[in-house]
Amino acid sequence: MGKPVQKVGILTGGGDCPGLNAVIRAVVKAATIEHRWTVLGIPDGYDGLIWPEKIHPLGAKEIHGILPRGGTILGTSNRGNPFAYPMQENGTTVIKDVSPILLENVRKAGIDVLVVVGGDGTQKIALELWRRGVAVVGIPKTIDNDLSATEITFGFDTALQTATEAIDKLHTTAESHHRVMLVEVMGRDAGWIALESGIAGGADVILIPEIPFSLEKICSKIEGRAEAGRHFSIIVVAEGCHTMDGHPIIPVDHERRQATRSGAIANTVGTLVGRCTHRETRVTVLGHIQRGGSPSPFDRVLGSRMGVAAVDLIARGEFGHMVCLRCGSIESTPIAKAVGALKIVDPNGDMVRTARALGISFGD
Ligand code: F6P
Repeated sequence: MGKPVQKVGILTGGGDCPGLNAVIRAVVKAATIEHRWTVLGIPDGYDGLIWPEKIHPLGAKEIHGILPRGGTILGTSNRGNPFAYPMQENGTTVIKDVSPILLENVRKAGIDVLVVVGGDGTQKIALELWRRGVAVVGIPKTIDNDLSATEITFGFDTALQTATEAIDKLHTTAESHHRVMLVEVMGRDAGWIALESGIAGGADVILIPEIPFSLEKICSKIEGRAEAGRHFSIIVVAEGCHTMDGHPIIPVDHERRQATRSGAIANTVGTLVGRCTHRETRVTVLGHIQRGGSPSPFDRVLGSRMGVAAVDLIARGEFGHMVCLRCGSIESTPIAKAVGALKIVDPNGDMVRTARALGISFGD
């Protein structure tokens, strides 16, 4: 890219998470204060570039007071891939490549660089735009913490806090009623939220996609606790977990890579556990509560660090790269290397080892 940067567009794509506004705020502050660039807010992910009417400047007024707010002031979408966009035609859904419209709108808006904040799917689209000549810089985002290119994604810490607080609350009612309480958390491909909130919350069983489970093993853990006088148990269930025979225990929406109905997995496991232990079970599904709330201090700081680092990449002309956290420091990596490789829990890693040593069962 030859001409000096003047206009930076920013969009947030995919599932929202706490910390997105910290990123937006940091990009706007660093870009306008240090470089006097104009920052344009692109609403609702890539949709905002397909229908560009709502693109608007972001300045001090727009970012005032957003640091502690969850969600994204820009809005987001996790359904609109411009290269394969579902459009309604004569009452039927057709899939169209509308990327030429998007590319033309980027040009018309005078956007020199596009900052894309999102998870794996969003970054894959950014990579395709980069390959078609759009200067892009990526910022990784997901509460699932399943992006291999970065140690931690902002959003994860707040989701972990939310899940842990919920598990803490379930302990007292489980013990009072001598019940088996199951709590379903998000994480369709990787069990990081389940694993870490299970350890932090003192769970007795943690079910994650990376370690297939058997019902018999879960029930034996519960009976073992009862024989030791602990007539209640806490089971943390990741939405993507499955049984040892590899078959999902409930219908799976393969396109969205998750159960066709939130809570279906925990409810099914709860019913089966109730039958085999003859104990009362109750199920709590945290769902999108994990995606909301005010970002933790950690996520506000990490989001701010990543936003500033993205502006630094732009100033250095390092396009096609994504900022990342490595050994506690902010670095960058080509987006091409960052996408497609999910960071899943290592069943032989120290986090699982820790849980097992604490007496936590993975149902295996
Ligand atoms: O990828 C983040 C995530 O929250 C997953 O943990 C969850 O399965 C999915 O998004 C939910 O997507 P939606 O918001 O479209 O229901």
